[in-house]
Amino acid sequence: MTEGHTVGTMPESNDVVLLLRKQHGQIRDLLDQVADGPADRRRESFERLTHLLVVHETAEQEIDHTYLRRSGGDGERVAARRTAEEDDATRALDALVAMDPDDAGFAERFRALRRDLLDHAAAEEDEEFPLLHDMAGPAALQAMAKATRAAEMLAPTRPHPGLDSVPKKAAAGPLAGLADRTRDAVRAVREHLP
Ligand SMILES: [Fe+2]
Ligand SMILES: [Fe+2]
Repeated sequence: MTEGHTVGTMPESNDVVLLLRKQHGQIRDLLDQVADGPADRRRESFERLTHLLVVHETAEQEIDHTYLRRSGGDGERVAARRTAEEDDATRALDALVAMDPDDAGFAERFRALRRDLLDHAAAEEDEEFPLLHDMAGPAALQAMAKATRAAEMLAPTRPHPGLDSVPKKAAAGPLAGLADRTRDAVRAVREHLP
C-alpha cells in the first residue's frame, strides 16, 4: 500500500486513531444504556456491548498495542499497561456474561467494570493514541485502520452464537470464541501491517 492511498471515504479509514475513538464513543453509549437505560432493553444492550468490547479490545491487542510494543521504549511500557487493563476487563466481562442482568450483584459488578473501562479508554486517548500518532506515519496509521475494520466486518455481527446459552457456571472464558475469530480476521490482513 502506498502512503496516502485512500482505502475508504470516511476519515477513519485512513487513521486508526479516529476509528478507535469512534468505537470508544459507541462503547460509552452502550455502557450508559446498560447502566441507566430501560430494564427491558438491558440484556440486549449488554450483549451489544459485550460483542463490541471483545472485537475492539482484541483488535487493539493485535494491532496498535503490537505496533507500540515492537517500537520499544515508551511504546512497549504503554502497550503493556493497556494490555493488562484489558485482560482484567475480560475476566470481569466473562463473569458478567455468566450472570443474568437482573441477578443480584450484576449492577454492582457492572458499575465497577464500567468505571475501569472508562478509565482504560481515557488512558488510551490521553497517552497511547498521541504516542501512536507520534511514532506511526500515515501509511502505518492507514494500514492499522484497515486491519481494525477487517475485525469489525469479519467478526460476528451478533453476540457469539453460544453466548445466549452460556451455562451459569461457565468460567472458562465464554467470550474466547469471539476473540479467536476476531484475531483470525485481523491476522488475515496482517501482511498489510507495518
Ligand atoms: Fe483497549
Ligand atoms: Fe480502546
